[in-house]
Amino acid sequence: MVEVTFLCPDGTAVQGRGAEDTTLMELAKSLGIAGIVAECGGACACATCQVVCDEHWFAVVGPPNENETEMLEMAASTSLTSRLSCQIRLAPELHGLVVSVPEEQG
Ligand code: FES
Repeated sequence: MVEVTFLCPDGTAVQGRGAEDTTLMELAKSLGIAGIVAECGGACACATCQVVCDEHWFAVVGPPNENETEMLEMAASTSLTSRLSCQIRLAPELHGLVVSVPEEQG
């Protein structure tokens, strides 16, 4: 299991554990993280599942591919280290991952 911490806009930190090879979005939804809407269900077609990594974790998670980059360009507000959580597969190297959830999306 991969442990992840979501830093929510209300200042709370929510920790959860997800199975390897499931997505960060699925974990967020199972934890009821309010800011993760995930309208398209993980098809990389809505950009409402955005999370923001710090620089350390962005280097581990890696940059978005071309398709994801296009979706992020349509999101309300993004940062250079934004990713769509449905495109992040949980893997051992992500154990301890910390991501911030934007205030509003979707
Ligand atoms: S859930 Fe729609 S882009 Fe991630």
